[in-house]
Amino acid sequence: MTAPAAHRPQELIVARDAAALAALAADRIARELAALAGTRAGQPGANLAVALAGGRTPRGCYEQLARDRRVPWPMLTVWPSDERAVAPDDPASNVRLLRETLVDPDRLRPDQLHAVFDAAPRTHADVEAAAASAARRLPERFDLVLLGLGADGHVASLFPRSPALAELERRMVAVRAPVEPVERVTLTPRMLETAGNLMVLVSGRAKADAVARALEDEWDPQTTPGQLARRGTWLLDVESAAELRRPRGAVPGSGPHPLS
Ligand code: 6PG
Repeated sequence: MTAPAAHRPQELIVARDAAALAALAADRIARELAALAGTRAGQPGANLAVALAGGRTPRGCYEQLARDRRVPWPMLTVWPSDERAVAPDDPASNVRLLRETLVDPDRLRPDQLHAVFDAAPRTHADVEAAAASAARRLPERFDLVLLGLGADGHVASLFPRSPALAELERRMVAVRAPVEPVERVTLTPRMLETAGNLMVLVSGRAKADAVARALEDEWDPQTTPGQLARRGTWLLDVESAAELRRPRGAVPGSGPHPLS
């Protein structure tokens, strides 16, 4: 069965290495947000809803994004694409990563960044309650979603064969991950499918198989949830693109970013 036409890859960009990828991704996000702000110019109270990945990969991108003067910071309302069920100051918290890199008097105000948990939940029921509360505050759709990709092909905390992959109504749900931290909440597939700009940021050889499965294998999101982002813009480095059957060379000049 071939993928629905809407899910055919829109764009793949391959940077020379992880440092170049971070710069390239920050530049691309800044440009997309600036363009979106332009389309909302003159609309009082207009804001841009953004969901950003957690994990280790995006830190360098966020640190560069924070220095990019094109980003319409006052317009942004920012959510984590998923969150571990830990306190917001826990090193494993995705909101902590976003707060550390993007919240600053000259950039994102603390109230523009939405935490799912205000303390470490004690039970799975607490996690479910937090997911339901967050879902009531989430936008109907996101203007921009940046995802990472796990080596098993997961995006956000949508892991292979997760019941959350079949969720058609709710915007955010509680899940139990096959890796620590087990208790999490995640955006559901509908929030990826309705995103205006959908981007996936992937670095390193360990992810190459997952990238190839997400972009080139037969349509089977239960096995490779990353396929839900197949229609998006894939920001890769040479290492993470290494197993694509149609190899892509690095973007010419994808060296250190001129603004860095
Ligand atoms: C999380 C992320 C998750 C992440 C991938 C890749 O909460 O862990 O949102 O989806 O993007 O697991 O993680 P790394 O960037 O750490 O490899």
